[in-house]
Amino acid sequence: MKDSYQREITYLRLSVTDLCNLRCRYCMPAEGVVKKQHSEICSVEELVEMAAAAADCGVTKVRLTGGEPLVRRGILEICRGIRALPGVRELCLTTNGTLLPELAAPLREAGVDRLNVSLDTLRPDRYAYMTRRGELSQVLQGLEAAEQAGFSNTKVNVVLMAGFNDDEIGDFVALTERYPLEVRFIELMPIGEADKGYLPGDTVLERCPGLVPVEASGVARRWRLPGGRGLVGLIEPMSHRFCGSCDRIRITADGRLKPCLHSSQEIPLRGLHGEELRRAIREGAAAKPERHHMAEEGRSQAGRDMNEIGG
Ligand code: 5AD
Ligand code: SF4
Repeated sequence: MKDSYQREITYLRLSVTDLCNLRCRYCMPAEGVVKKQHSEICSVEELVEMAAAAADCGVTKVRLTGGEPLVRRGILEICRGIRALPGVRELCLTTNGTLLPELAAPLREAGVDRLNVSLDTLRPDRYAYMTRRGELSQVLQGLEAAEQAGFSNTKVNVVLMAGFNDDEIGDFVALTERYPLEVRFIELMPIGEADKGYLPGDTVLERCPGLVPVEASGVARRWRLPGGRGLVGLIEPMSHRFCGSCDRIRITADGRLKPCLHSSQEIPLRGLHGEELRRAIREGAAAKPERHHMAEEGRSQAGRDMNEIGG
């Protein structure tokens, strides 16, 4: 399916819960979020039905997000259901990694192809501060569990924040020397709680002059260390707007299609089935705006916090 700017839409990001076991400062308020009524969140069956309809419309890649997808009851069932859909060639999942020690192997068995693990610091004290309750060792064990469960091409997502982790850029890059991971530095976007600390992705290149460029992948520019096992990627929604090659739509855990992360436009999908559901998804894709306006407006118009959209 194409949008009105001739972009081919093949990638669905499906949020399976808005809850999270952490409280990252740029993402969630300290007190957490008001828990939605159980009935406001899509059931396992509804989520699989929406993914199936999206696949019928041309989606070939699905990423499960949250909140934290691994706190969702029925997550393995959701994975199995979506992986079994004809048309879905790749099922990915973005997680904070804290529950991977228990769940990496079952997720692999349930058909998940690849993992993105969010990790903004390698220092235990900073991790506890940023997440307000997390323990770094759980994430590191989670990464190990993922490798042992047979996951490869795992990505580590690092949101760049001035005064918080910019002094760790070299440490993150050094990880790619020893491990076959892709470390992806992401520019902080002005959404929800995130208001200060933006650093352009180019900072990484200035700090690490030894990086050698390799081919881009999706919206990421990429490099490697000579002799390193992994890769370094930059996701630069602010300094290198990639809207022109956007291929994605999003569905929130309460069943609303978001044509664009940074637009408040939402199309309710719950209660729709069959051709009606497919039509709503095609209309949603067609309604994608040409681009975001964060640079001009200084703020995303997402209309929700990140835990409700899934990044
Ligand atoms: N800017 C950039 N990335 C963000 N994420 C959450 N909030 C923001 C923000 N304001 C990231 C998380 C996670 C991914 C899902 O989105 O750290 O890696
Ligand atoms: Fe949870 Fe991710 Fe938000 Fe952190 S960024 S609070 S891990 S949803």
